[in-house]
Amino acid sequence: MAEPSPHLTATADAYDAVAVRYADFVRNGLDPLPLDRSILAAFAELVNTSDAGRVAELGCGPGVVTAHLRDLGLDVFGVDLSPVMIDLARGAYPDLRFEVGSMDALEVADGELGGIVSWYSVIHTPPRELPPYFAEFSRVLAPGGHLLLAFFESEGEPVVEFDHKVAPAYRWPVDGLAELARAAGFAEVGRMLREPREEERYRRGHLLLRRR
Ligand SMILES: C[S@@+](CC[C@H](N)C(=O)[O-])C[C@H]1O[C@@H](n2cnc3c(N)ncnc32)[C@H](O)[C@@H]1O
Repeated sequence: MAEPSPHLTATADAYDAVAVRYADFVRNGLDPLPLDRSILAAFAELVNTSDAGRVAELGCGPGVVTAHLRDLGLDVFGVDLSPVMIDLARGAYPDLRFEVGSMDALEVADGELGGIVSWYSVIHTPPRELPPYFAEFSRVLAPGGHLLLAFFESEGEPVVEFDHKVAPAYRWPVDGLAELARAAGFAEVGRMLREPREEERYRRGHLLLRRR
């Protein structure tokens, strides 16, 4: 079996070390973000309507977005690299299922899922390693299943590394991520950009896609 990429261990260790503080920081993180909640609501409505299967939040951290998706009526579970994050998520939301794992090697059968949310989690993957992630998303989603990505947008630049507080991360042009998704069999449903709030640094990108 191939060795896991070194960035996976480094990212897991980095998030383990800050998990308790991170969970405090994001606990009510969606409350002041109506646009972010609107695209999560659109995703939930599309998944509920298509009835294509359950939903995975990949890179779920302490499970705040997973619980929000549950509140939107989805049958959802979370996966994260960081065992400490998963312990916190299980403690906070005992009614939900959370598993340690990497989103590029899911223990999910082909076509089993109706939806995937990656909310600021593909940001840590070195760009050259990202195409297989989209291949894995395509494998586990049923045809007609939906994928929602949230990420830091590169504001006119090509993909660029930035000094994320926890682990190395990358800002992406929306077209760049849309092209990776298209090559893996996704059609774009829509995109949303949000300007940074006063306490934020970068424009936020959101891409909603459908598995062909
Ligand atoms: C910025 S946090 C976002 C957490 C959560 N989605 C939220 O918005 O609150 C990024 C999370 O992605 C996880 N992550 C990064 N790469 C991953 C991978 N390959 N597989 C699973 N989780 C990953 C990290 O461990 C971390 O918990």
